[in-house]
Amino acid sequence: MSAGQSARPTVVFTRRLPRPAEEQAARDFDARLNADDHTFTPAEIAEALRTADALVPTVTDKVTAQMLNAQPLKVRIIANYGVGFNNIDTGAAKTRGVVVTNTPDVLTEDTADDAILLMLMVARRGGEGEREVRAKTWTGWRPTHMLGTRVSGKTLGLIGLGRIGRAVAHRARHGFDMRVIFHDPYPPPPSVVAELEAEPRASVDDILREADFVSLHSPATPETHHLIDARRLGMMKRGAFLINNARGDIVDEGALVAALKQGTIAGAGLDVFEREPSVSPELLTMNNVVLLPHIGSATLESRVAMGLRALDNLKTFFAGAPPRDRVA
Ligand code: DGY
Repeated sequence: MSAGQSARPTVVFTRRLPRPAEEQAARDFDARLNADDHTFTPAEIAEALRTADALVPTVTDKVTAQMLNAQPLKVRIIANYGVGFNNIDTGAAKTRGVVVTNTPDVLTEDTADDAILLMLMVARRGGEGEREVRAKTWTGWRPTHMLGTRVSGKTLGLIGLGRIGRAVAHRARHGFDMRVIFHDPYPPPPSVVAELEAEPRASVDDILREADFVSLHSPATPETHHLIDARRLGMMKRGAFLINNARGDIVDEGALVAALKQGTIAGAGLDVFEREPSVSPELLTMNNVVLLPHIGSATLESRVAMGLRALDNLKTFFAGAPPRDRVA
């Protein structure tokens, strides 16, 4: 290396990434990979912030104000591996001049598929049926066996019509002939809404009163924390289902358990939970609930693309240009 030429930036990755992404990382950076895929402790994250040029955390790694307020701080960019970035205190990052990016777009279709998967599984009792077959308690076809709820032609209420909400709307409208209603405080342009054949509603409450399936597609922010609470669950139709593959704390999980127990709603399809990876024990015992382990973006295609997108943000940043997915 000649004088004045800087070494390759040091980048700490908190988790293993699919191989093509790690190989690319090793080509582009002084990549500190997590070979044994252990969960980083807060101390390890703090250490990375103090000693590396960049950090690539995932959606479960909390990067707190306390960590970001540490002196000295070496890190200049946090390229989150995930579209959601509520794990990072972006206000504190901004204050310390640390850029934050996320990985939108590349996981949209797979995450929308996961919402549809939850909706079908819970309505058609997919999990329950599978458990019956595996338990060898299935006694054969009969007209009254395992009757579920029809999805086609029903009303889907979307809370949030961002990229993933729109992809769900498209599937529901064109794949299942559903009527799609939505509420979003920052709706997409009218031409996009018209193309989706989606109908706006003025409030979350309007959606809850009208929809047969309510699917959540909002980011986790202070405003959406416990957006779905006991009062709002009480507004839903008795035969309605709640679908959540956005973020766990948008739903008050305790209130959801109570609503399911009391028959306030018919069921829930959940890919995310308030205190992941722990799940309210009552949910584990309920047949009208489908539980998935936060796998919305879990296809090889999405997870490779998320890694490459994070690397792309880093490369752009270290080349001195604004990274395309800057969120803070
Ligand atoms: C995200 O990206 O925010 C998901 O929750 C994980 O893919």
